[in-house]
Amino acid sequence: MKGKFIVIEGLEGAGKTTSSYIVASLLRKYGINNIICTREPGGTPLAEKLRTIITNDITQKEHITHYTELLILYAARIQLVENVIKPALMRGTWVIGDRHTLSSQAYQGGGRGINHDFILHLQQEIMGNFIPDLTLYLDVTPEISLQRTKKRGQLDRIEKESLYFFTCVRNYYLTLVQTSNNIKTVDASQSQEKVTHNIKKIIQQWLQHVHL
Ligand SMILES: Nc1ncnc2c1ncn2[C@@H]1O[C@H](COP(=O)(O)OP(=O)(O)OP(=O)(O)O)[C@@H](O)[C@H]1O
Ligand SMILES: [Mg+2]
Repeated sequence: MKGKFIVIEGLEGAGKTTSSYIVASLLRKYGINNIICTREPGGTPLAEKLRTIITNDITQKEHITHYTELLILYAARIQLVENVIKPALMRGTWVIGDRHTLSSQAYQGGGRGINHDFILHLQQEIMGNFIPDLTLYLDVTPEISLQRTKKRGQLDRIEKESLYFFTCVRNYYLTLVQTSNNIKTVDASQSQEKVTHNIKKIIQQWLQHVHL
């Protein structure tokens, strides 16, 4: 595969969307112009439909079980990986992903309490050894996360979860980031300028070791 897959992870409002623009513009400065941005869940017609099921509050009528949630998220992910991400990488396009597998491990594992090994097993069966080349984890406290999302107005089904839920998700993220050298943590509770500076530093350092 010729392109590279860079993923941005973190709680709601951590700054993932903002950061994906920063990464894209930095890559362009290095002459990397073939870039696409993806978001999860979503990014294909079917995956976008699955996103609305996950985020919309249809659950007043029917409770979505934790396993249903997990399976919907992996269904959306594999549609995106097979139909968009892998073909893009094969033709030399770089992919900046707004969320990926770490989100499922943190939210459905840490937040919902689904067994970690079960999630990894499911992932291995569905996705094999496909992993991002680099993941930036934007770390914010649940309090900051909720503050930023509330400013935006209407909260979706996941955003309405409790502070305790997001505390569990964040703690899990903090454990997961220690498991791989390809995951870099950014303190995203800092000012936008400092966050931008740190992201640029990480990407620049990483690019020095990447075969372009
Ligand atoms: N470092 C920062 N300091 C202050 N505000 C920030 C910072 N980073 C992002 N924001 C603001 O917080 C809000 C959320 O940022 P953004 O949409 O990039 O986050 P996100 O992680 O993509 O959120 P979501 O998970 O909901 O998509 C925006 O209003 C953005 O301007
Ligand atoms: Mg976003």
